[in-house]
Amino acid sequence: MRGEGGEVAKAEREPGSMQNGEETAGSDGLADPAMSFRTRAVHAGESTGAAVRPLSDPIYQSSVYAFDDPGLSASRHTAEPPLPNYSRDHFPNVAALEQAVAELEGAEAGYAVASGMAAISLVFLALLGTGSHVVAGCGAYCDTEALLDQVLSRFGVTASFVDLHDAGAVAAALQPTTRLIFVETIANPGIHLADLPALSALARERGIPLCVDNTFATPALCRPMEHGADLVVHSVTKFLGGHHDLTAGVVVGRADLLRRIQRTGYLIGSLLGAMDAWLALRGIRTLAPRMAWISKTAAEVAAELARHPAVAAVYYPGLAAGPDADLVRRLLPDGAGGMMTFDVAGGPEAAARLVRRLRLIPFAPSLGGTTTTICYPPRTLAPATESFHPPVASLRLSIGLESASDLIADLRQALDEGPR
Ligand SMILES: Cc1ncc(COP(=O)(O)O)c(C=O)c1O
Repeated sequence: MRGEGGEVAKAEREPGSMQNGEETAGSDGLADPAMSFRTRAVHAGESTGAAVRPLSDPIYQSSVYAFDDPGLSASRHTAEPPLPNYSRDHFPNVAALEQAVAELEGAEAGYAVASGMAAISLVFLALLGTGSHVVAGCGAYCDTEALLDQVLSRFGVTASFVDLHDAGAVAAALQPTTRLIFVETIANPGIHLADLPALSALARERGIPLCVDNTFATPALCRPMEHGADLVVHSVTKFLGGHHDLTAGVVVGRADLLRRIQRTGYLIGSLLGAMDAWLALRGIRTLAPRMAWISKTAAEVAAELARHPAVAAVYYPGLAAGPDADLVRRLLPDGAGGMMTFDVAGGPEAAARLVRRLRLIPFAPSLGGTTTTICYPPRTLAPATESFHPPVASLRLSIGLESASDLIADLRQALDEGPR
């Protein structure tokens, strides 16, 4: 739903009501909160009102609606939330995606945009102003940090990046001007977890919104709103879309905050196209079985890497020991996801050789698709030259849908060979 009023939004999406004037049944949709996540992911955001309807939403490839009555256009623009009118107001495929992610995350409202970074930018732009301070987890996605350091700083926003392993660090970093706490459920590329219940308790006590980037975990494995978050963002480009074929982002959360985010998004114009929204929702239909399969495969691959003498260290939540293991049990009871980082024992040269020797697993600087991919942790990426490889021994793996045995065989043949 764009903002609130999901029922209206759903009726507006139905081709019957929009095109043929067919009577609608006014259904609530099939995604009953009592059903399993797996079932809800198959039906979330579905249009069910029309007596006769396409089972998959049509793609509304139009930037504007036409009106016999000009007054109707104006009233739809000012409706709360806006109704289909012009692309930046609200559009049916995008609204379906927003509604689906909001439902699956247990949020009141959602707003989908052109990329994960657009979603994060909108949260910052809607909630911060000159003099605002942000507390963010360190070791998280480099572009989020860069956005705060290089762009928001020019508008008088300051940020503190804190070690989320240090229980007192977040509280110590809070200032009277702190307007947002921003963390990742599973950090990219550090792969450490944020203690969401503790953070949300602190945020609530101080009256500061907590926004969680849930890209790596997805709502199939962790729903930050259930742990007290106020907002959740996703790079839909990754596991939600799930097929390396679209770029999108979404913010879901408290309706009052979403109203500000939606208004800012309308003015900024970072809108998502109908085709990418449709593809994203199609990806979400298989999210639950994909994340279950991916988590199982990733656990096998991580265990194999941890045993290999050519691997110095593996960072995967499912392998976490000590206090982190308890956090993993509490936050990720259904699986630890598909992301891991590992250090190659022979250093940067050996890591570069490993990447070149892989036959099945391609080097690709993204994650979350059906294909397993490997890359350098994003923080280390620098302008590429033909001979370029970063001076790090770390590699980041995103597990896809292949068999664990085939992935392990590929990694093993690349790790087993001596220097070449
Ligand atoms: C955790 C996380 N958040 C946000 C983003 C940004 O997403 P996008 O590339 O869709 O803008 C990424 C991209 O890799 C990411 O890994």
